[in-house]
Amino acid sequence: MGRVQNKACVVTGAGSGIGKATALRLAEEGGKVVVSDINVESAQKVADEIKKSGGIAIAHKTDVSDFKQCEDLIETCVKEFGTVHVVVNSAGVNIPGVFHEVSNEIIDKTLNVNLKGSMYTCRAAIPHMLKHKNGSLVNISSVNGIVSEPFLTVYSASKGGVVMLTKGIALDYAKLGIRCNAICPGWVDTPINYAHAEMMGGLDKIYKEIGNFQPIGRPGEPIEIAHLALFLASDEASFMTGSIVSADGGMTAQ
Ligand SMILES: NC(=O)c1ccc[n+]([C@@H]2O[C@H](COP(=O)([O-])OP(=O)(O)OC[C@H]3O[C@@H](n4cnc5c(N)ncnc54)[C@H](O)[C@@H]3O)[C@@H](O)[C@H]2O)c1
Repeated sequence: MGRVQNKACVVTGAGSGIGKATALRLAEEGGKVVVSDINVESAQKVADEIKKSGGIAIAHKTDVSDFKQCEDLIETCVKEFGTVHVVVNSAGVNIPGVFHEVSNEIIDKTLNVNLKGSMYTCRAAIPHMLKHKNGSLVNISSVNGIVSEPFLTVYSASKGGVVMLTKGIALDYAKLGIRCNAICPGWVDTPINYAHAEMMGGLDKIYKEIGNFQPIGRPGEPIEIAHLALFLASDEASFMTGSIVSADGGMTAQ
């Protein structure tokens, strides 16, 4: 038996990075996975990889900033796999900039994808989870949901919102079988950071000096976040709800 055997799982932003590693890990542990991304080609590749290894997966094109598409995502999971037990919200954007120079469009996009996207999928999934009084929602926030960094004010505001979204859902549904937890990753080696790295002097420079802000002295790997997402999704985390769990190489220990 796998650790999420037969659970119906939705992972957003699953075409790349942390979401991809999480979708693969859930499938390895017996989960049936809807691999969702705005980039459907990348989602399809991940779903194909899962199926090739004997797992169960389908791809879904979702722009999480659109509630109707989030509803369709959850309905697709229910239609294919009977219900929804797990949602991992990993879709995200990080568009860095000097706060007063950032356009209102960038502000809207950042909040719509990072914060409202997580709200939308949770809201669409909860009515199904209430039917069987069982569900686990895992939101990928960020260390920037707890502490900010230069050029990341808007991103940090969106991720701080995800922390409070997580706590609010946890309280509202604690007695109804639905758990909601958030992960706050430090710097993980994925494309979402490339623009920020550019503003900070380039990826090579960042990785040479990473020990100055991430004590472990290296970037995280997506799989290191996926292991934690799997744990929180599974019944092994049955006493955890409303938890904000850092996986950041010691960044927020300072
Ligand atoms: N990489 C890090 O250092 C780091 C640190 C802290 C938090 N995070 C968070 O982890 C999550 C995953 O990021 P990642 O590092 O895997 O980056 P990534 O760029 O590898 O993956 C992000 C995915 O989200 C998808 N996406 C973007 N906009 C979308 C939308 N509107 N609808 C649906 N999908 C959309 C992209 O297509 C991409 O596949 C994000 O929420 C990010 O903020 C990442």
